[in-house]
Amino acid sequence: MDRQLQIQILLDHYERPRHRGALEEADVRMPGGNPGCGDVVTIHLKGAEDHSHIEDVTYEGEGCTISMAAASMILEEVHEKNLTMDEVLRMDYNEMIDKLGRQIVASRPKCATLGLGTLKAAIRKYQKDRRLDAAGVER
Ligand code: FES
Ligand code: FES
Repeated sequence: MDRQLQIQILLDHYERPRHRGALEEADVRMPGGNPGCGDVVTIHLKGAEDHSHIEDVTYEGEGCTISMAAASMILEEVHEKNLTMDEVLRMDYNEMIDKLGRQIVASRPKCATLGLGTLKAAIRKYQKDRRLDAAGVER
């Protein structure tokens, strides 16, 4: 994808964030931060009845353009593809950087992956709280 288009997509997510806000009925609220700059993202996660899909997920936070746009993009993907928790846990940080545009975010990997990292932490807590393995089966 060309650089200009990739920048437009990023700015669009920053200006019109998808799935941003608190989620009243969340099972897990997971704060994540980038200590280097103080930026924060909190993921609100509600598991589906099968414990392997995601019923709903939102984020709140204050941070740089890349971190906020990246959180919006990853949550949009989770919703649109109805990804399982396991699929999210297997997502690669490198892939995330490619999705956002390597030329644009390669020098800012912590910004690019703050949302995904916090989402993974939220999922791990959800599974740990319920003693579930990665497939959503009780251990
Ligand atoms: Fe939520 Fe596209 S913005 S599914
Ligand atoms: Fe803090 Fe980007 S500068 S997350």
